Amino acid sequence: MKSVKKAIIPAAGLGTRFLPATKAMPKEMLPIVDKPTIQYIVEEAIHSGIEDIIIVTGKGKRAIEDHFDHAFELEKNLYDTGKLDLLEKVQQSSNMVDIHYIRQKEPLGLGHAVWCARKFIGDEPFAVLLGDDIVESETPCIKQLMNVYEKTGASVIGVQPVPLEESHRYGMIDPMAQNGGLYEIKNLVEKPKRGQAPSNLAIMGRYILTPEIFSYLEKQERGAGGEIQLTDAIQKLSKTQKVFGYCFEGKRYDVGEKLGFILTTIEFALKNEELREPILEKLKQLIKQEERMV
Ligand code: G1P
Repeated sequence: MKSVKKAIIPAAGLGTRFLPATKAMPKEMLPIVDKPTIQYIVEEAIHSGIEDIIIVTGKGKRAIEDHFDHAFELEKNLYDTGKLDLLEKVQQSSNMVDIHYIRQKEPLGLGHAVWCARKFIGDEPFAVLLGDDIVESETPCIKQLMNVYEKTGASVIGVQPVPLEESHRYGMIDPMAQNGGLYEIKNLVEKPKRGQAPSNLAIMGRYILTPEIFSYLEKQERGAGGEIQLTDAIQKLSKTQKVFGYCFEGKRYDVGEKLGFILTTIEFALKNEELREPILEKLKQLIKQEERMV
């Protein structure tokens, strides 16, 4: 059985939820404290032992490539001015792993973005990591799924329970019996209408897929939101091969929409020694001020 060595990170979305900030800047470059969201995702892949990453980009995404490239002038300036701690941080992002890029020429959806990377993946199982969720866990989230793949040899999707009233925002799975957080999947539905979710288990943007998925993606028609959906192709795959959902351990931060992004920024800033006290102080003041106004 081949092991998982390659990962796809789709980053071609238009970022409409963050307009106008994302008019000229990729949403993947929006920082949580001082690190772009996509760097958290790349680090998760590296810490899981992934050797090659392909980022699927689109129009206006050059900043992502620049971020993971060397920045000669900046590095020289930091060296000359003795800012060696900052130099190390800057160099970290360019020395990460082998990162490759491919452009999705039209924004046709997540399924199409993954399909764009088929030649790079070839005939191997591979990981997909979406940038809208950052997961903090003892074992990196995608590594947990890789461990399940090693045991089952089957595609496995990271899931977590969500409140049913939020299920229309996700791909939802219809599970059969579970065994230690592992569910064999009977059915998958992308963004079900309110009240129609088959369970409370939502797809959380982490996947290990067998290469057979590409033959379904190739023929996949548009689904929810008029887009070619990865979930719909996995649904078809599940009719010919076993597909599992795995309820991974870890805390998930939703950075794909404004409220989640702001709350994550606050939580991550509170973990930073320099920022913690002044932020707590300011938050207390703001709460008092709000209470006085009520
Ligand atoms: C994508 C997937 C969906 C998944 C979600 C969260 O949707 O299509 O199945 O639940 O990410 O990771 P998006 O949020 O890109 O519309």
